[in-house]
Amino acid sequence: MSKHDLFRAGIVHFPHPTTQPDTEAECFSDGALVIAQDKIVAMGEYADICDRYPDATQHDFRGKWIVPGFIDSHLHFPQTEMIACYGKQLLHWLEQYTFPTESKFSEPDYCRQVAPAFIRQLIKNGTTTGLVFSSVHADAADALFEAASDINMGIIAGKTCMDRNCPDWLQDSADTAQLQSAQLISRWHKKGRNLYALTPRFAPTSTENQMHALGELAQQYPDVFIQTHLSENMDEIEWVKSLYPQSDGYLDVYDRFHMVRPRAVFGHCIHMTDNEWSRLAESGATAAFCPTSNLFLGSGLFNLDKARHAGVHLALATDVGAGTSFNLLKTYGEGYKVAQLNGQTFSALQGLYSMTQGPAVAYGLDDSIGNLNPGTVADFVVLDPVFDELTAMRLENSHSAQDMLFALSMLGDDRAIYQTWIAGQCQYEK
Ligand code: GUN
Ligand code: ZN
Repeated sequence: MSKHDLFRAGIVHFPHPTTQPDTEAECFSDGALVIAQDKIVAMGEYADICDRYPDATQHDFRGKWIVPGFIDSHLHFPQTEMIACYGKQLLHWLEQYTFPTESKFSEPDYCRQVAPAFIRQLIKNGTTTGLVFSSVHADAADALFEAASDINMGIIAGKTCMDRNCPDWLQDSADTAQLQSAQLISRWHKKGRNLYALTPRFAPTSTENQMHALGELAQQYPDVFIQTHLSENMDEIEWVKSLYPQSDGYLDVYDRFHMVRPRAVFGHCIHMTDNEWSRLAESGATAAFCPTSNLFLGSGLFNLDKARHAGVHLALATDVGAGTSFNLLKTYGEGYKVAQLNGQTFSALQGLYSMTQGPAVAYGLDDSIGNLNPGTVADFVVLDPVFDELTAMRLENSHSAQDMLFALSMLGDDRAIYQTWIAGQCQYEK
């Protein structure tokens, strides 16, 4: 058996960190990607590379495109089954659907049943890394890490912590949140490809005691992630002000407990003050833009220009189950429409950056994921842009990566995902 696999296809990715994705994409219309075991070993023009690997197993994917595996920077594993539930805005939706559904994850067998199904949804949509909220139950986080580990997928996840303002049968406490999170860190953080994220659900569902307990862990483990929600909904923001009267705004609640720093990822960030944008930027934290969720819950329009001008790390995210699709290309497409409504721009290459190299750079992971540079882990997606009569008509005479990605963001879904490779293994084929 040959040691190398060589893929011939169009290739587009971002080799370096950049604030200018439109001009910094590296693109080969007749490209080659070569992998050996779990790593990328070469990438470039097919004509330059093909002779170097005469014994490689050949994958002739002309007409298709290879992009880095997508990074979904905010979504909820126990909400998979409640995607697309009719409802009102955030706080009502949480009460009506979310808390009852998440309570089902008190059953370890149920967690082990749903976790692989959740992972299958990710890879079917080209997502090879997720920042994932689990439920309040430690067993659910174990099941998720186990399911990801089974296919050598890099997942960043955490047990959700909440000790007030939710049903008491779904609460932990300051002490158990700290203890169980610490145990999960020792079990999973940097074990294989797994990374841990401290996960206070959002300020309203944690007491000051719980925030303090998690803040202690944040200080004790400077390289763990932190994931939570920030400034998603106007009623939520007023509620935070009343619950934390001594804080100077919503972001400051997290700041006082040492949670605003690199590898802190804040979902939504819709209704933000200029000071909050500046603070996010200087801290090195990331804003996760979740357009399908924001439109679905009527939360508001994310202000891309504010994030850009402040210099905040930006990451696209599905936020399933308030988000309505696991597909990040489609999610970018909704982000484009949000930008349109704001009178702003969001190009397809900016979108691709925000689901690959952008978050990888923000999280300090770009030496292993987010791009197709030799030496990185072979997490990549083979896109099949022409998957039906309409896409054939639309893309017949189109040869640019930017146009192909944009058309797929509007017309595509999992039908455009031909294969998903994780650590050098094909884990999904259409
Ligand atoms: N705020 C607190 N919890 C949640 C959640 O599960 N989904 C969303 N969209 N916002 C939240
Ligand atoms: Zn969320």
